[in-house]
Amino acid sequence: MKVLIIGSGGREHTLAWKIFQSERVEKIYVAPGNDGMSDLAERVPIQIDQIEELANWALANKIDLTVVGPEDPLVNGIVDHFEAKGLRIFGPNKEAALLEGSKVFAKSILKKYDIPTAEFEVFTDPDAALNYLEEANYPLVIKAEGLAGGKGVVIASKKEEANAAVERIMEDKVFGDAGDRIVIEDFLEGQEISVLALTDGEHILPLAPAQDHKAIFDGDEGPNTGGMGAYSPTSFMTDDLWDEVCEDILEPTVKALKEEGVSYKGVLYAGLILTDTGMEVLEFNARFGDPETQVILPRLEDDLVELMELVIDGRLSEKKSLSWDERAAVCVVLASGGYPLTYETGFEIKGLDDLKQHDNLLIFHSGTKLVGDKWFTDGGRVLGITVLGDGILDAINQVYDFLEEIEFEDIHYRTDIGFKIIED
Ligand code: GLY
Repeated sequence: MKVLIIGSGGREHTLAWKIFQSERVEKIYVAPGNDGMSDLAERVPIQIDQIEELANWALANKIDLTVVGPEDPLVNGIVDHFEAKGLRIFGPNKEAALLEGSKVFAKSILKKYDIPTAEFEVFTDPDAALNYLEEANYPLVIKAEGLAGGKGVVIASKKEEANAAVERIMEDKVFGDAGDRIVIEDFLEGQEISVLALTDGEHILPLAPAQDHKAIFDGDEGPNTGGMGAYSPTSFMTDDLWDEVCEDILEPTVKALKEEGVSYKGVLYAGLILTDTGMEVLEFNARFGDPETQVILPRLEDDLVELMELVIDGRLSEKKSLSWDERAAVCVVLASGGYPLTYETGFEIKGLDDLKQHDNLLIFHSGTKLVGDKWFTDGGRVLGITVLGDGILDAINQVYDFLEEIEFEDIHYRTDIGFKIIED
């Protein structure tokens, strides 16, 4: 079969790597992809927001399955568009993707169906929001309703910071329409864990849990990024907690959507926090996480294409459980210095080809460019380096040894990926 992957980052490189292993797949295309994936997939020069062009291309090229990586095309209705042309596509439709596309929608589902999450208020009027902040307890969290590239969430430790966030989001419109409405919610403290589950709208099949490291600097300091590293599994997730996540969060969410007349098919990504009183939902995403995918899929032993087909066909109940590589996976993201703010690109990356020799090491490209036979930086997040080791500590030690062999000007990476588990 022919598979088209939509997107161009480390997540999509990992999807291509995993889908390539399926015996059912003859050919993979990626739109637009990056140079690092060219050995697995043929690149198609269509951007992720050109939904009509993507659908026409898929039709003309007899694509059997399309897999959507990023959230924007999902929220913009790529699945509805493909399905209307009779094309098979993996991901939630526009209505279901609202779980990520509208924080107001997600919070109202959580509240209505009594799924654990922080207390919150919704505001459409900046004056009402500023008024509310006068008497509020701090810290608190301010979220732009819509998609803001991971930058729409502000943790304010005092009133002045909260006021500034409301003004930036609602009055200065730094995220455009995405900030027309905001959610102000209580701040929750605890370990954050990402649980991604496949669902066909009726049944769920959770993938192994992972922990992301969103802040740019060691010790979770500095601004949030798309994610600077991840590991899987995580020892925070005991068997009891896992049951709690499935029974009190994932299953009720899918059921709640169904009751609202929304059939959610694809990956349901629950961003969770383990508080003193149990697991609560911080947010939902409607897609695979990045870099979480870079540690989850290397451990998944099942055929991902078969799983995606079961989801699309509403037959996920036929698959009772998933098989996992017992080894632990750790991914460290190498970024351009200055990311997530301003950064330069175009620096030569040295040492990559020598690294490819190690068989427990995977290199996923996010922002790279091949010129002749040399690699250059071409984005904020440049590479994800994943190692499978005998336990987290072994994987951490190995990944950092490997990283010493890679160099580019202004290279930045966190030196403490996995530190929370070690301190635990
Ligand atoms: N790692 C965070 C995300 O994928 O949104």
